[in-house]
Amino acid sequence: MTRRPLVAGNWKMNGLRAGLAELEAICAGYSGALKAKADFLICPPSTLVAEAAAKTAGKGVMIGGQDCHAKASGAHTGDVSAEMLKDAGARFVIVGHSERRADHAETDAIVRAKADAAWRAGLTAIVCVGERKEQREGGKALAAVREQLAGSIPEGASPDRLVVAYEPVWAIGTGLTPTPGDVAEMHASIRAGLGKRFGAKGEEMRILYGGSVKPQNARDLIIQPDVDGALIGGASLKAKDFLGIAAAYT
Ligand code: PGA
Repeated sequence: MTRRPLVAGNWKMNGLRAGLAELEAICAGYSGALKAKADFLICPPSTLVAEAAAKTAGKGVMIGGQDCHAKASGAHTGDVSAEMLKDAGARFVIVGHSERRADHAETDAIVRAKADAAWRAGLTAIVCVGERKEQREGGKALAAVREQLAGSIPEGASPDRLVVAYEPVWAIGTGLTPTPGDVAEMHASIRAGLGKRFGAKGEEMRILYGGSVKPQNARDLIIQPDVDGALIGGASLKAKDFLGIAAAYT
């Protein structure tokens, strides 16, 4: 089974229109062996999705949203629906990022409804899971992630509609990372869970690692069995760093 790696950038609440120059530089670097070996995705803030999609058209770099509402439309001031992201040119949407779970009290049930909304709109959902520091330290990381996965992924998942991102909360934006062995153990556990629930399709689903991925540690963290790419926050804001991470695949 060969899964094509996905190198995904999450710009979070960063990026003005001028910042799209970095996206153009990422497109310029997406060629040759890199293009042959991996998919590229950038998830800018929703204000930039349409312009980013227009700028990347025909260049192979895909654009995604960072969150969506569960409903298609309605009286939900400030929210963005999956249909709106799709209409703006997005192909993916991140749901259940730990910052959303923490800042907006998003539960597994809410995340699951958002993943369903992504599918309804024809987007691929990147469902994020990851243990907190005390869960890792208490030996409960695998169980915590297993529970999040069970609650956050809707029925009917398929490899073209679902990507899982394992992001330990304590590793996001901190410069801390799990050991390569801990990453491999977690990804094997997630893979087993997907297989149990979705059968052979679980083998084809991509599982990304996220949390302080940098050009210097990319190879150790993402060139592992059952790690099918990276979800990159801070280092995705600079084309040089993003391309430096992706170079692990060449
Ligand atoms: P980071 O963020 O790479 O800045 O740690 C990762 C993420 O939150 O997706």
